[in-house]
Amino acid sequence: MENARTANYSRTTITELMIPSYANFGGKIHGGILLSLMDKVAYACATKHAGTYVVTVSVDNVEFRQPVEVGELVSLHASVNYVGKSSLIVGIKVVAENIKTATVKHTNTSYFTMVAKDDDGRPTEVPPLILEDDIDIRRFLESMKRKEIKASYKTLLDNAKTSMEIDENLHLLDNERCVIKRDKDMQSEWI
Ligand SMILES: CC(C)(COP(=O)(O)OP(=O)(O)OC[C@H]1O[C@@H](n2cnc3c(N)ncnc32)[C@H](O)[C@@H]1OP(=O)(O)O)[C@@H](O)C(=O)NCCC(=O)NCCS
Repeated sequence: MENARTANYSRTTITELMIPSYANFGGKIHGGILLSLMDKVAYACATKHAGTYVVTVSVDNVEFRQPVEVGELVSLHASVNYVGKSSLIVGIKVVAENIKTATVKHTNTSYFTMVAKDDDGRPTEVPPLILEDDIDIRRFLESMKRKEIKASYKTLLDNAKTSMEIDENLHLLDNERCVIKRDKDMQSEWI
């Protein structure tokens, strides 16, 4: 555990002004712009902890609760919440500030799983995490819980996909807003 590092060591914030070219036709900021910034801050934070190149493996629960406007300052706060052997979970809190009114809104909190890679592109061990206070301990424990829930959820999703018999389940569509016009001879090739 001698190379262990604190979450403070790699804590990272990126602040960026939302400019008009980031906006969609409705005048709000594209979700993709925010996702890209989240990936960037997750990378910066994880690579600092790991001391190696890292890759993004999965992103949990991106849900934009409020729109972000042109002219707002968006800050993305990232910290390492959990480390496994080669993986790290980075928690990212995104807040948008209206400079004129000084109001700050919390748009989302998401969790990025990153994996450290060696020079040959193989997963490589990351330093352990030093938990310095109750917040660090809570975040580590919560990440463990989320990992566990995610694993069982993944199994359920996989089962839902493999066990789906279309004809037996057609009645589930009775009250849905869809129209069945199927031609069994024309099946999509990519599914
Ligand atoms: C993620 C990746 C490294 C896993 O490689 P692998 O040979 O299967 O390696 P392992 O099975 O040893 O897994 C390595 C770690 O990744 C974790 N992992 C693998 N798949 C995962 C997933 N879907 N979600 C969360 N963690 C995952 C494992 O739990 C393991 O963590 P640990 O070392 O802390 O226990 C590999 O699939 C990869 O490189 N993917 C592409 C990532 C990338 O390029 N991202 C950019 C987007 S284009």
